[in-house]
Amino acid sequence: MWISFAGIITNYKDVKQFLVQKGHKFRSDTDTEIIAKLIKHIHGLHPNYSFRELVEQVIQQLEGAFALCFKSMHFPGEVVATRRGSPLLVGIKTKTKLATDHIPILYSKDSPEKVELKEHSKLKDTQSDHRPHGHEIPAHGLARSQSTSEFLPQGDNKEVEYFFASDASAIIEHTDRVIYLLDDDVASVEKEGVLKIHRLKRTLEDTHAREITTLKMEIQQIMKGNFSSFMQKEIFEQPESVVTTMRGRINFDSETVVLGGIKDYIGEIRRCRRLLLIACGTSYNSAIATRQLLEELTELPVMVDLASDFLDRNTPIFRDDVCFFISQSGETADTLMALRYCKQRGALIVGITNTVGSSICRESHCGVHINAGPEIGVASTKAYTSQIISLVMFALMVSEDRISAQPRRSEIIQGLRNLPDQIKEVLELDSKIQEISKKVFEKKSLLVLGRGYNYATCLEGALKIKEITYMHSEGILAGELKHGPLALVDKGMPIIMICTRDNVFVKCMNALQQVTAREGRPILICHKNDQEPQKYGSSVLEVPKTVDCLQGILTVIPLQLVSYHVAVLKGCNVDCPRNLAKSVTVE
Ligand code: F6R
Repeated sequence: MWISFAGIITNYKDVKQFLVQKGHKFRSDTDTEIIAKLIKHIHGLHPNYSFRELVEQVIQQLEGAFALCFKSMHFPGEVVATRRGSPLLVGIKTKTKLATDHIPILYSKDSPEKVELKEHSKLKDTQSDHRPHGHEIPAHGLARSQSTSEFLPQGDNKEVEYFFASDASAIIEHTDRVIYLLDDDVASVEKEGVLKIHRLKRTLEDTHAREITTLKMEIQQIMKGNFSSFMQKEIFEQPESVVTTMRGRINFDSETVVLGGIKDYIGEIRRCRRLLLIACGTSYNSAIATRQLLEELTELPVMVDLASDFLDRNTPIFRDDVCFFISQSGETADTLMALRYCKQRGALIVGITNTVGSSICRESHCGVHINAGPEIGVASTKAYTSQIISLVMFALMVSEDRISAQPRRSEIIQGLRNLPDQIKEVLELDSKIQEISKKVFEKKSLLVLGRGYNYATCLEGALKIKEITYMHSEGILAGELKHGPLALVDKGMPIIMICTRDNVFVKCMNALQQVTAREGRPILICHKNDQEPQKYGSSVLEVPKTVDCLQGILTVIPLQLVSYHVAVLKGCNVDCPRNLAKSVTVE
């Protein structure tokens, strides 16, 4: 048995205990092994089941979030794949066009045996050899034959190749045609090379077919090119990725913003009770980065929540709430569960994602695709800056009808226009940042201080540093210094401080002096040619000045580069930091 598995099986101890009682021996303590042993066990009891039926039996016993792909010597030439809570897609490669762009769902007939097996979720098995659902029922209105004969290439060359992957970037070099599977879909490729998609039960919400989507991704987008890692490439792509986020949405001359994915909902959004921004990790930091502007331009109360904490609290949600779910992957389990929680309570759901066809995309009422291009490095960089821009564009769109907001809107739109060139200027600091990184990479800790619009940069910079360098790092709100963190400051503590000319500049200078008074010698990120803060810095990184609400985009890039260089100097795997995954599809 060959199994490819992503995710987590939460009841694996129960399953293992059951299988041990049945005499199975285990070589490891992994949840993957219980899946292999479980399918073997069911095959032993029901040798007449097809491969797909065995897999259907297995997943009925599993709890958790997973994407699974099975091959077996007992079923040569066949593959069965399924998902629940973790992304899974099927790539299709043919020489000629397929006869259809949809594949109908086949429903397996329920039977008492199947129900009994499920009810015995503690895995008391039956000895019955009745097929639990050996009968295929085609989707309503579709003839049985449509699922097979029509799903073949046109013409004489019937050759088809299938690719199973969690992410489209893994298969784009082979094909751009994919089917995104939904939870509990079981896709099987049988000997004759025909792909079938089964579901155990027919539900009202089901669309009864899965569409074949053509990916817009270019192959060079997922190649490293001259860069040493995807993360480095993605940091350097930001002058272009911010442009693609804005393309077709902002008219810089007429100073108008149209987000096609939410324009029909804008009236409802303007009338709402409050905006909630819910996300995890970097995506959460993008919500922190834009909260102040959203409050200012929408004049609505704005709540920002970490998805896991939001779920822990049973937060009250109302029908006239508008809930934003921000996620690069669109698959993060906590964010997705928070989305479902708010949807059930009648709120309007707005998805802000980078992955077309992702679960968050599909389950939102409306949304914005951030168009940052595929992000392969586990550490999120260009998605963060594009998320900020997407939320800024949203604020600009909602405030279009407010006369008093026009000067502010105009200033921000012109700021966005200049941003790509300013990002290029910041990226020119790269070699200077590499030199600074040499001074800190052997230290134990790195504090990042700032306030106002730069607070999100502190959180995000510290997250990047922790994530890929394994060094302790903390983003600290400068206003909180005297409430505890100041005790950490001495001449040996590495500190990065952000001090740009905005409405909290004076307060930041005050914090800077408190730090230097304790012999701290921070590395400063400040505006170009701004002498006043520079005299307090051990080193200075000068960034161009932009509108306050966009400044965080220019101040975070030096920190992305610090984390990158420190990780390289420490010999860490920049793209795949230990213990982390790109899509966190488990709670
Ligand atoms: C950090 C990072 C993570 C993700 C978080 C949410 O660099 O990438 O903190 O931001 O796991 O992921 P998404 O945005 O896919 O929901």
